[in-house]
Amino acid sequence: MSGHTCAGGSGCPQEERVVSKNRTVYLKDYQPPQWLVDDVYLDFALQPSATEVISTIRYRRNPLAEQGDALLLDGHDMELLSIRLDGELLMPERYRVHAGGLEIPAVPERFTLEVTTRIDPQGNTSLDGLYRSGGNYCTQCEAQGFRKITYYPDRPDVMAPFTVRMTADAADNPVLLSNGNPVASGKLDDGRHWAEWQDPFAKPAYLFALVAGNLACVEDHFVTASGRTIALRIYTEAHHIDQCDHAMASLKRAMRWDEERFGLEYDLDLFMLVAVDDFNMGAMENKGLNIFNSQLVFASPEIATDDDYISIEAVIGHEYFHNWTGNRVTCRDWFQLSLKEGLTVFRDQCFTSDLHSAAVKRIEDVRLLRALQFAEDASPMAHPIRPASYMEINNFYTVTVYEKGAEIVRLYQTLLGIDGFRRGMDLYFQRHDGQAVATEDFLAAMADANDADLSQMQRWYDQAGTPRLSVRMEYDSAAHRCTLHVSQSCPSTPEAEVKQPFLIPLALGLLRADGTPLALQLAGEAEGCGSSRTLLVTEAEQSFTFVNVPEAPVPSLLRDFSAPVILDYPYRAEDDAFLMAYDEDPFNRWAAAQRLAMRTMLAMLAGEAADVELIATAFSRLLADPDLDAALKAEALMLPSESEVADACAVADPGHIHEVREQLRVRIATLLQGELESTHAELAAASGLDDLAMQQRKLKNVCLSYLLTLKTGRVIELAYRCFLQAACMTDQYAALAGLASCDCAERKLALSAFEAQWQGEANVMGKWLAVQAGSSLPDTLEQVKQLLAHPAFDLRNPNKVRALIGTFALRNPALFHAIDGSGYRFVADQVLQLDRMNPQVAARMVRALMNWKRLEPVRSGLMRAQLQRLSDAGLSADVGEIVSKSL
Ligand code: TRP
Ligand code: ZN
Repeated sequence: MSGHTCAGGSGCPQEERVVSKNRTVYLKDYQPPQWLVDDVYLDFALQPSATEVISTIRYRRNPLAEQGDALLLDGHDMELLSIRLDGELLMPERYRVHAGGLEIPAVPERFTLEVTTRIDPQGNTSLDGLYRSGGNYCTQCEAQGFRKITYYPDRPDVMAPFTVRMTADAADNPVLLSNGNPVASGKLDDGRHWAEWQDPFAKPAYLFALVAGNLACVEDHFVTASGRTIALRIYTEAHHIDQCDHAMASLKRAMRWDEERFGLEYDLDLFMLVAVDDFNMGAMENKGLNIFNSQLVFASPEIATDDDYISIEAVIGHEYFHNWTGNRVTCRDWFQLSLKEGLTVFRDQCFTSDLHSAAVKRIEDVRLLRALQFAEDASPMAHPIRPASYMEINNFYTVTVYEKGAEIVRLYQTLLGIDGFRRGMDLYFQRHDGQAVATEDFLAAMADANDADLSQMQRWYDQAGTPRLSVRMEYDSAAHRCTLHVSQSCPSTPEAEVKQPFLIPLALGLLRADGTPLALQLAGEAEGCGSSRTLLVTEAEQSFTFVNVPEAPVPSLLRDFSAPVILDYPYRAEDDAFLMAYDEDPFNRWAAAQRLAMRTMLAMLAGEAADVELIATAFSRLLADPDLDAALKAEALMLPSESEVADACAVADPGHIHEVREQLRVRIATLLQGELESTHAELAAASGLDDLAMQQRKLKNVCLSYLLTLKTGRVIELAYRCFLQAACMTDQYAALAGLASCDCAERKLALSAFEAQWQGEANVMGKWLAVQAGSSLPDTLEQVKQLLAHPAFDLRNPNKVRALIGTFALRNPALFHAIDGSGYRFVADQVLQLDRMNPQVAARMVRALMNWKRLEPVRSGLMRAQLQRLSDAGLSADVGEIVSKSL
């Protein structure tokens, strides 16, 4: 390989690791690009282990940037074969190749650069850049994968139209795809063929995509509001082609919804979606050619659960919605990631909420936010939704940037109303279509379109941590006045010790003792208006007085979770039970149930008397409430997770928490056995894919999971019967997951029957791995270790890693936190192995070891020791950042 420069390719991974380690990128260092790109022409000669890429790119000096005539391009993990500048072959002394890229010291004002590189898709186990999955070629370029394909200014504020030509073996790769429109294709005489694609929309390199291989396709079409017909195609391996109907229907619903809700139409004549088995995340919004983790495409009632159906629809929507929020208007730099992700998550939340139950959707989103994002905000990786620095950008595709980001976008809608929010969106597109912008531009569009001063919103972008909103009520029975004293605070996080007050919309209502709502009239107002309203909390401390309040009310606070804060109000257990029964706001009925359950578990943890009767009675009343739909009952019955309980403890003992939570479930199940059994029986026949059937199955399976805590022969028999008779994956999976934590013969029978039935379906086998890794039986770690050698497991496949190792590390706290440290050691072992293949996935797993400071001393020491052990090994930048920030 002499004569070729190895720039940190597979032959010299150490070099790359050392260089990218410990290098922090700062938002404050942002500079506009020195060089702009007029157009990009890429020519791929596809071969599994040696693909040659010729990129022909026209550069022009950016008049708005600093002077200087050096061209700096990003690139690594490639072999550089040649460089031509305006046709002239450059000798090695005319340029410099280093670990992160290429520098050409003197270039003219305008020029064309032709660079030839050679890459190895087959050997690319990072699944970043051009790689192979299931014998097909595909790409993943967000955030910085394009620089593993050719040398380029790989930053989102450099936008250009792309033309892509590819040649490949025709028999192995009948399908050749890239962004935009197909413009030409043909056969070559050596058994190869070619195709050329053109994307007329200027885009950043992270939205580039190429797919080639042997793929079948389902085709449909969509007629836009303005009457254009768009061809829709979903590509997958042939044996999955009959599992794409739900994905196609979801896509059409998303296209219609974006027109109706935001007036946004699709802009090309063709929309393609490709499903691949090996993918680091959920899906990717490449222009006109979305690439999906096959888990988020394939569905039929036999292989996908109801939750899978809903997430497939949501993610198809999410990626489709990116076409406007992400692609047409993109990010200036990666610090602005939440500009597209927070906004697009908010849009997909509204989509699901409009199509299904809004209350259930809100509850599920908040459950996720509280369980994962609040924990991240309290961890060593805490960061604002617009971070000020990062070491590895891939580590910032987080629940904070996505889910908290969506909550901040929701705040605008809460403050401005649906119509005001829409005006802001319209102005945002009017101003910024075709541009790469910052979160400040979004804020300004919202403010300007509504003539509102939203400057305090900026703090949500700059300050990390979960604010605590404390409310105290004072009732003056003589004056019939009720005053709420509100104060806010926010803990220190790595980026800032002291926090400025946030703008917090506080939605609330006041309930009379008989459960009816009061009309709300603030002091100074002429009359009461409505029973629910939103106060604006802007200061560290503020008071709000309501008048004409005839009796001391129970306040229903933070309705619909009007801001991402921790609410602190001295509710008594009876208040929670009362709000569970009477609150007008379904979200707050759920929140009260969660609070009551949390209060009960915390009392049990402290060894205090816990009023289990009260919670059981409240649950029983909910179950019997004819006005409440089945899904809301199910949500209310699901106790806060072990990790949420751990977050509520100053020092967590995960073993004790698991015990107490299980104990509470057993006691509730004992008290309510009759009702749980009859509810289960009544709902047994729920069938079909409509919302009602899905909601009924959800409640039915929550009942089953409670009953199984009793572990009697009778309930095990019931669960096994449900397993055998299940007509859909929802029921089959629920029964299997329940049995997986019971030490009984039926457990083994069910696991092997499931394996025999589904061994040909990779994604279903992922569920089989996950239920075993999530089991609360004492030998779970032993089982997990054995499953590493099972043919259904593959360390190179992220779905399988998440199912087996991820479930154990992140969703099975009792076993992961085993007091002998065996869980920590196991996860560290796996991280070390994985890191050599796929740093992005390894970095997800290592997060399980982050929070040693919040554990009791024995576990704390054991976990820290594993972090230290990792830190002493050679790590990727991805894992290295998390380990170094945790220690
Ligand atoms: N932009 C993708 C989304 O819709 C996220 C994504 C997909 C991604 N694949 C990735 C991010 C790989 C980083 C690395 O949310
Ligand atoms: Zn996204």
